[in-house]
Amino acid sequence: MATGQIFSKTTQALFYNYKQLPIQRMLDFDFLCGRETPSVAGIINPGSDGFQKLFFGQEEIAIPVHPTIEAACNAHPTADVFINFASFRSAAASSMAALKQPTIRVVAIIAEGVPESDTKQLISYAKANNKVIIGPATVGGIQAGAFKIGDTAGTIDNIIQCKLYRPGSVGFVSKSGGMSNEMYNTIARVTDGIAIGGDVFPGSTLSDHILRFNNIPQVKMMVVLGELGGRDEYSLVEALKQGKVQKPVVAWVSGTCARLFKSEVQFGHAGAKSGGELESAQAKNQALRDAGAVVPTSYEALEGAIKDTFEKLVEDGKISPVTEITPPPIPEDLKTAIKSGKVRAPTHIISTISDDRGEEPCYAGVPMSTIIEQGFGVGDVISLLWFKRSLPRYCTQFIEMCIMLCADHGPCVSGAHNSIVTARAGKDLVSSLGLTPYEFVEGMKKKGIRVPGIGHRIKSRDNRDKRVQLLQKYAHTHFPSVKYMEYAVQVETYTLSKANNLVLNVDGAIGSLFLDLLSGSGMFSKQEIDEIVEIGYLNGLFVLARSIGLIGHTFDQKRLKQPLYRHPWEDVLYTK
Ligand code: ACO
Repeated sequence: MATGQIFSKTTQALFYNYKQLPIQRMLDFDFLCGRETPSVAGIINPGSDGFQKLFFGQEEIAIPVHPTIEAACNAHPTADVFINFASFRSAAASSMAALKQPTIRVVAIIAEGVPESDTKQLISYAKANNKVIIGPATVGGIQAGAFKIGDTAGTIDNIIQCKLYRPGSVGFVSKSGGMSNEMYNTIARVTDGIAIGGDVFPGSTLSDHILRFNNIPQVKMMVVLGELGGRDEYSLVEALKQGKVQKPVVAWVSGTCARLFKSEVQFGHAGAKSGGELESAQAKNQALRDAGAVVPTSYEALEGAIKDTFEKLVEDGKISPVTEITPPPIPEDLKTAIKSGKVRAPTHIISTISDDRGEEPCYAGVPMSTIIEQGFGVGDVISLLWFKRSLPRYCTQFIEMCIMLCADHGPCVSGAHNSIVTARAGKDLVSSLGLTPYEFVEGMKKKGIRVPGIGHRIKSRDNRDKRVQLLQKYAHTHFPSVKYMEYAVQVETYTLSKANNLVLNVDGAIGSLFLDLLSGSGMFSKQEIDEIVEIGYLNGLFVLARSIGLIGHTFDQKRLKQPLYRHPWEDVLYTK
């Protein structure tokens, strides 16, 4: 790699905090570029282990998942880039942990809102240890045809349109990640494309990047997009004046419209406001022009200025335009193709007794809320799930009697109960009541455990799970105390401050209310409650309830005369 070049076609990264979409976009980019190895070597998802399946072109691959940064670095010693998708609350600590790993050379931090004092510490640690920090609050950067960070350059269609799948001759640096996509397009239209691109990050200046690009033979000209506010552009003015830059620089500082406003206007970024004449877009454009950069008279003229500069370099024989290649097509995802009506795919299973796709699950077409609000019993649920109809109450009561009478046949025939009780559910909820919800959630986070009973894929603050509401309503009406549930709600209030979907889910509601039932009834000692939780009675409740549905599905398949099931082999990822 040339001095100043951060990435190459063999660079591999560790991706922190599993986010499917940006990882898939990195892998799709790799495939377009003809990389031999995926650019993501491993994923770090605190508390998780195993593999995540993702696509590399048409092939599905299993990327290892590690619970800690240290474990990931040990497993992938040649992956020297750490791409951090942690939230602004966790990004600083995880970035520092990554910087301390001897194998990590570059850390990219995506989150916005990382405290400035933490950022300063990271930057100074990185500088002292000869490491690079990209971000925080960055979309990332791209080495065309070689490596890209996360969501940089947007969708695959955009990447193809901007010809970023192969290297061109232009080095591009921007003070705005959002404007980068626009500029990738502009540059692709009038030159042979980008060699390296990205936004400037807190730990670096525009001139750092231009001087870096100056050392990279592939980069033949540079494009800089600055913005009003701050003095960063003057570092570039100085470098130009001192003759440190030998390649043409086309620059534009946006925000010239600020003068049209009577009072000071804060533009998109924190620093993007004119702090005085010297920090105005006009003054910076003039200073760059005086120092020898090509600076157009307006943003509209920027494209022309880039085009002219490029064509001059071609005329002078300094650039031989790259040979065009056609990148391989990225197969469309099945879900997208089905949605657009392009393909149809056969299903492998028929089910007629239940449906969990809508707002609330239905048993034989009857929604959960009806089942609870109309006071259905277990017999009625069995009637729906087994017989697919609402039998009259005398029938369902008879079913309930049968279950009650057959519930136990004495100690001599008891089954292997231990195989269905696992040591999970609720222990931390019980022992946690001395802790504030904040201490409890953060304590669990430190242990790498996501709070069980919190979080839903579809349900959120504004779209509550009806089942949870029904359980809560019942407990409020009938239970003498709902202190555990109230605690769970306080935990939920705290987790909702982190993300909209971190709601108390049905398992969490049942877990906390089960404890309220035990303690509120006054019929169990504290020691007995601890033991009930420890042994896993709550799992027993779920197993018992689920058995009704499982038996119903068995009957359903037999009724439908379904043949022997063989799972389609194309649905299996055969891997080592
Ligand atoms: N119980 C308790 N807590 C839970 C549970 C659970 N079951 N599940 C998740 N959580 C917690 C996590 O531990 C995490 O806690 P933390 O924030 O204290 O670490 C929290 O919920 C949030 O979940 P995450 O998945 O870690 O984070 P998030 O979904 O917020 O994603 C990301 C982070 C990717 C950085 C996101 O916030 C983002 O995309 N931000 C925008 C950044 C951006 O745009 N940067 C570019 C700026 S430049 C430009 O755009 C031009």
